[in-house]
Amino acid sequence: MPIVIKGGKIVTNADIYCADLVIENGKIVSIGRNISLEDGNEIDATGRYIFPGAIDPHTHFDLEAGSTITADDFESGTKAAVMGGTTTIVDFVNHVRGERLRDALNNWNRKAKGNAYCDYGFHMTIAEWNEDISDEMKDMVEEGIPSFKMYMAYKKTLQVDDATILKALRRSTEIGGLIAFHCENGDMIDFLVEREKRKGHFSPYYHLVTRPVEVEDEAISRLLSLGKIAEAPVYIVHLSSKKGLEKATRAKSEGQKVYIETCPQYLLLDDSYYGEVGNDDFEAAKYVLSPPLRKKEDIDSLWNGLSNNYIDVIATDHCSFNYNGQKSLGKEDFSKIPNGIPGVEHRLSLMYTYGVLTGKISLNQMVALTSTNAAKIYGMFPQKGTISVGSDADIVIWNPNLETTITASNQNQNVDYTPYEGFKIVGGAEHVFLRGQQVVKNFKLVEENPLGKFIRRHRCQLCK
Ligand code: URP
Ligand code: ZN
Ligand code: ZN
Repeated sequence: MPIVIKGGKIVTNADIYCADLVIENGKIVSIGRNISLEDGNEIDATGRYIFPGAIDPHTHFDLEAGSTITADDFESGTKAAVMGGTTTIVDFVNHVRGERLRDALNNWNRKAKGNAYCDYGFHMTIAEWNEDISDEMKDMVEEGIPSFKMYMAYKKTLQVDDATILKALRRSTEIGGLIAFHCENGDMIDFLVEREKRKGHFSPYYHLVTRPVEVEDEAISRLLSLGKIAEAPVYIVHLSSKKGLEKATRAKSEGQKVYIETCPQYLLLDDSYYGEVGNDDFEAAKYVLSPPLRKKEDIDSLWNGLSNNYIDVIATDHCSFNYNGQKSLGKEDFSKIPNGIPGVEHRLSLMYTYGVLTGKISLNQMVALTSTNAAKIYGMFPQKGTISVGSDADIVIWNPNLETTITASNQNQNVDYTPYEGFKIVGGAEHVFLRGQQVVKNFKLVEENPLGKFIRRHRCQLCK
């Protein structure tokens, strides 16, 4: 039965206009004025915005990290996602050296299939290089996984060297893929970690000290050069610093294909969360993520990058670990604290409150940054990322008047803290539709079944 959403203001990356829209069989089937259906449900969206379902292209659900596993799996993570207005996530398949990509993918399929409350895709991580991996990359692209991830940090497990990056970039370009990079120099980090520990420094404050801006800056500079030499597009995940942004922006302005992602934590939280120099309070472990939180000048620069459209995507890098029992694994040694923070639930409300309502970004930019650009870069547009006839009916009816405060106790993420504790937010996802099915009604999850499907993606639609 069709559903008509009436009286709302439709917001895409390019337009804001008042219109009604009809959804049927999972798709948007018409958009127009004063639509009435003889046979169908009507939803009153007066005074509300209608956004395309948000896309979070950077999550880590059900990820093993050392001796522990993320607090959120696909079930809890995607429930939290839809409650916040995110209808598609792209999660990183972990690849262990020596493992076939196919086996890594099977493992992630098993974790996600039948457990996701929003649609999902995968990026394939590549942790080493050999001929089999080169061959398997093509299989991945053909199976709807046209994006890969390489880490320039995490030396013992994931870090790849420059020769590997060059070969992978060339191969990826041949087969229509795109590689996303974690840009931090892992050798510098290990050197600094050893140095601090020798000095007897073991508290989480030293996570900050051992991952200074230079660590990111060097990796971004190197990646840009490698991308240029390989004549390949590159995507920089979770960019956190002014210096890194300046380098990447310059390369873009010179015509290099570079896509830049940042995250709410680098826009809203600063390094004061680690405390004063030498702070030994373990509470700072809640903010152990990589790269670490930065200074006000970095934050200002990132907002400027968003306002000026230098940055393409705001993702979350949701990678949650409980403070009690998980972060505490590093109680005696900061380098053993699992890295990452939660955020998949709060991205839209944070960006609406602290981006749109402060005038730093427009509503159109918010939609572009949280949905449309990721859909294009990661090959899902216009199925996802917009409101147009023929697109999936992934729709968020946004109430701009709701006022709430983020706290650990009212969140849906399955983790015992939130880095945004006490943050006031305005606006919320009042109703959410996933391929035409209402999954959130009056701010509550109403769909008991995990309806999320694997999305076969196509090659990057901006890379040529
Ligand atoms: O600290 C972080 N960012 N953890 C998640 C894994 C990664 O590096 O993206
Ligand atoms: Zn990363
Ligand atoms: Zn990540």
